[in-house]
Amino acid sequence: MPPTDQPRLVDRFGRIGRDLRVSVTDRCNLRCTYCMPAEGLAWMPKPEMLTDEELLRLVGVLVGLGIESVRLTGGEPLLRRSLVDLVAGIAGLRPRPRIAMTTNGVGLDKVAAALAEAGLDRVNVSLDTTDPEHFQRLTRRDRLDDVVRGLAAAAEAGLTPVKVNAVAMRGVNDVDAPELLQWCLDRGYELRFIEQMPLDAQHAWDRGLMVTQAELLQRLGERFTLTPVPSRGSAPAETFLVDGGPAIVGIIASVTAPFCAACDRVRLTADGQLRNCLFARREVDLRGPLRDGATDDELGQLMIEEMARKAAGHGIDGPRFVQPDRPMSAIGG
Ligand code: 5AD
Ligand code: SF4
Repeated sequence: MPPTDQPRLVDRFGRIGRDLRVSVTDRCNLRCTYCMPAEGLAWMPKPEMLTDEELLRLVGVLVGLGIESVRLTGGEPLLRRSLVDLVAGIAGLRPRPRIAMTTNGVGLDKVAAALAEAGLDRVNVSLDTTDPEHFQRLTRRDRLDDVVRGLAAAAEAGLTPVKVNAVAMRGVNDVDAPELLQWCLDRGYELRFIEQMPLDAQHAWDRGLMVTQAELLQRLGERFTLTPVPSRGSAPAETFLVDGGPAIVGIIASVTAPFCAACDRVRLTADGQLRNCLFARREVDLRGPLRDGATDDELGQLMIEEMARKAAGHGIDGPRFVQPDRPMSAIGG
């Protein structure tokens, strides 16, 4: 493939892949009820996982095809021991992509500075409540203090704007939403709620139990004045000024107001499978060809073909919706 400035990851609806999500491990040290069963999952065997070198090679090919930003996810990305080196490797690619990470924040206090130094630009930290009991119920672990320290360290290290992701669960932490917003406002963190999606390993998701954007807006509206900010672009969050601004809160209505039409995402799993959608029913194996000696051009061709197959939308509300076989923790958020 000749080098070109033209983006190459284009689908039949004209959407262009620019944002790559890389799951660097499927393991996690929390057990959020909307994600995993209490006992955890059968983790990926090490030989099936991409080495750092393999992962960097694939990310490099994707950057050559027009990827402009790379987000490291998991499972919990901090559980990959080589994470700082991986970040440095990605920061060394040309053109250099923006680099972000989605983490649960446990242990982030110890590595935030090193990650920033290596080239990480920003973090999203998952925090669903600041109530210690509710946190424990939701994550099945007593680690709230770790997450709070991780957030502070991220801000200190300049991984800004620090964003907080929250999933509201009915009867657990939905009542905490206004308090969580106030807590984030007090610290300068940008809060975004995400509607719960059918991606849990237990397949327990229930449309009727999901806390919707409308419900969250009502709950937050009891304490704050929210004004919609226009212009959504390809960003999935609908944003609202809080009490006239400048602070904002986001709501990602992935289920009730899907943003599929503006999606610019591509996903690479820790075992080297490329996915054109969180909800894709298929993926293309890159690890096999990579280990069999495929050239960059050959790998690129597989990526281009997979992206061309991207479906119009996830169809969660459609009659034929089938949840993907892989849970969120093995796909990457
Ligand atoms: N629905 C919505 N969000 C989820 N997350 C994990 N599982 C789900 C789900 N089923 C969130 C995590 C994290 C991000 C990767 O996605 O809390 O913030
Ligand atoms: Fe771990 Fe994230 Fe799943 Fe929670 S949602 S168990 S933090 S991978």
